[in-house]
Amino acid sequence: MSSHALLESFDDLEPETDDFLSEVLTGLRATRKTLPCKFFYDEKGSKLFDRICDLPEYYPTRTETALLQDIGGEVADCIGPHAQIIEYGCGSVRKIRRVVDALVDPAAYVAVDISKEHLLAAANMLASDYPDLEVHAVCADFTKPFDVSPPTSYPEARRIGFFPGSTLGNFTKEEACAFLSGAAELLGTGGGMLIGIDLKKDIAILKAAYDDAAGVTAAFNMNLLDRINRELGANFDLDQFEHHVVYNDDVGRIEMHLRSLSSQTVTIDGSAFEFKAGETIHTENSHKYDIEGFQAMARDAGFEPQRVWTDSDDLFSVHFLTVP
Ligand code: AVI
Repeated sequence: MSSHALLESFDDLEPETDDFLSEVLTGLRATRKTLPCKFFYDEKGSKLFDRICDLPEYYPTRTETALLQDIGGEVADCIGPHAQIIEYGCGSVRKIRRVVDALVDPAAYVAVDISKEHLLAAANMLASDYPDLEVHAVCADFTKPFDVSPPTSYPEARRIGFFPGSTLGNFTKEEACAFLSGAAELLGTGGGMLIGIDLKKDIAILKAAYDDAAGVTAAFNMNLLDRINRELGANFDLDQFEHHVVYNDDVGRIEMHLRSLSSQTVTIDGSAFEFKAGETIHTENSHKYDIEGFQAMARDAGFEPQRVWTDSDDLFSVHFLTVP
């Protein structure tokens, strides 16, 4: 049986081989060293991220999942019947089940993800659990333009983007606005977007969520160096770096860094990189929004906010936006 036997279609835009080496070299040559967080999600990183989602400190996943369960009927009313659902960064396709269960005869589900093996495994599992649902998979970096095929069952279906988990928070404000503008274009007039956005809150809750006691988030962050060693033949000494988390109040975001524990030199593809003791590589931003701030950004990007739901502790929000 082929790796995508249960899928209606599989489109591989081969994003993983794209620019790993050149983006790593560019990031580490910058005055303030940085690495793009999209490279966290190789097979090992995707599995570590699944473990993060189950951590007691990491409230976003369980809060959003419970919220989606509670509001399923209202979401289904907003979306309507026979819609084509396009999930940006589908991961393990856990949350979409809450949505699909509530929808009336969805036309198709399109899983989009950068990690090919994880994408195929997850999309096939969904297809086998929902035999009446048309499941498509697109392996792509969804921050770049891509297209999706129309559903076979309802070729004129309304397109609905699904972007849960507050992944938008991993983009800078400019990137977030550019992503939303691109999504509005793909979804088209009359289309919609169901999007999860993490809210500003007590800093101690935020820091614990990104620096858990079991060290899973630290392993997720460190895997990036391990991946560069494995795939690009670099020689990072993993014992000489540590996971470091700060809340940047000026911009309202959690930042993850990898901090060098000594003065050291690392070689990647023949290029040498000097690290001072205490110097960091900035690996991820996770912006936290308030509702009005997010809605203003969505309007700037061409969406019209229609509904917003939050949990009873105001930890997390889910928004339904439309393209006018
Ligand atoms: C995928 N993204 C929304 C997660 C977040 O919360 O920013 C990634 C993550 N990084 C550390 N823990 C989780």
